[in-house]
Amino acid sequence: MNVLKVAICGGGRTGHLNAILFKQLPNVQVSMLTGNLEIIERHARQTPMRALLPDGSTLEARLDRVTTDARTAVEDADIVIITVPAHARPQTLQAIAPHLSASKPVYIGAIPGFCGFDWLAEAALPDRPNLVIWGMKDVPHTAFELAPGRSIKMGGGKSKLYVATHARESQASRRQLQEMLTRLYGPCVTMLENYLEITLTPGNPIMHSSVIYGLIGPYGQWHRKIFPQPMCWWTECPELGAYFLERMDQESQELCTVISQRLGIDLSSVKSLKQEIVDAYGEQIRDQSSMLAILRTNQAYNDILAPMVPAADNRAGYVIERESRAFNEDVAYGLVLLVEMARRFDLKVPYIEEVLHWSVGYMQGLRDSALDYFPSHWPRPATAAA
Ligand SMILES: NC(=O)c1ccc[n+]([C@@H]2O[C@H](COP(=O)([O-])OP(=O)(O)OC[C@H]3O[C@@H](n4cnc5c(N)ncnc54)[C@H](OP(=O)(O)O)[C@@H]3O)[C@@H](O)[C@H]2O)c1
Repeated sequence: MNVLKVAICGGGRTGHLNAILFKQLPNVQVSMLTGNLEIIERHARQTPMRALLPDGSTLEARLDRVTTDARTAVEDADIVIITVPAHARPQTLQAIAPHLSASKPVYIGAIPGFCGFDWLAEAALPDRPNLVIWGMKDVPHTAFELAPGRSIKMGGGKSKLYVATHARESQASRRQLQEMLTRLYGPCVTMLENYLEITLTPGNPIMHSSVIYGLIGPYGQWHRKIFPQPMCWWTECPELGAYFLERMDQESQELCTVISQRLGIDLSSVKSLKQEIVDAYGEQIRDQSSMLAILRTNQAYNDILAPMVPAADNRAGYVIERESRAFNEDVAYGLVLLVEMARRFDLKVPYIEEVLHWSVGYMQGLRDSALDYFPSHWPRPATAAA
């Protein structure tokens, strides 16, 4: 069996867990590109990385290379997996672009692939026909409690892993990618027909922003107030947040319907968020009667804290963190994209827009966003637009 060279970009929770899982396989070399010197030091001291599995067992691994140097991490890679959050991807792609092989196909993908990774990679890696762009709809397993370079806890796994490629990729490249990912993840890898099936799947962008809006937006009970203690995202989800989420979920479905009809593509795999959650967690949800009940009674969501920081000026209590990923990733790279896609089809998405505009104000403006790479010609193909 030929050696498969995998480069993982990002030494966070998802990066650690995937790296350790891959190193259990024969003939798989794994390098990790990280900015975290602690991981590099641990690797140099031969400390094994450990994954703690839900059944109490442990997997150990020693990666082949752990480095801050983009060239060392990716120069001979067959497959590159970006695991940094969406707002950090442009910088990562910029760092690795000059060092990717030009003499063989290199499969470059993001896990998770949301926020239009296909468009970003196309824009960031122009004139590189040997690169095959792909994304996975979701993380294969949740990963939490990272001790960098030492251990990571594995949470629940997905029974199926959905993968899409950029529309430009050939059937042969898609088959090759599926083979590669099946080698890494097993026979659960399923290819989607269209990358939009990933981009339009509702998830964190509408979930996090609606709950925050319901808590501290203009009509929220915590508007301009300080929380006495940290709150749980879901078990303490406000009614107003669940209301906005349900509305935004409907608007996201309408967007999907319009795109499917106008572009003549099958997006039937994109379910509503409610359905996604029920399908993913099933019996772990005690009450499936409404969005609010689903969020509050899903045992898998217990104890997950909302992103909060101590209030400024020595005041007792907490406020929602402006610099959190719920804004920098989910709003700037998720909601912004949905609103722009709707605008291109003259579709009104007033709830999503309301939450987006308030969130951008709370963030004190957008520094960067998915609009930096969303193709100006979309939904027309590039050639027709030229
Ligand atoms: N963990 C999960 O269970 C889970 C579940 C669902 C979705 N996701 C998604 O998976 C992606 C990765 O999540 P994660 O939980 O693995 O994240 P994480 O533990 O925070 O790791 C992300 C890594 O990205 C790198 N990075 C570079 N610039 C960054 C920036 N500006 N902000 C934060 N990180 C930056 C860092 O790597 P270095 O330390 O190497 O510099 C960091 O360790 C995100 O899109 C997240 O929404 C994760």
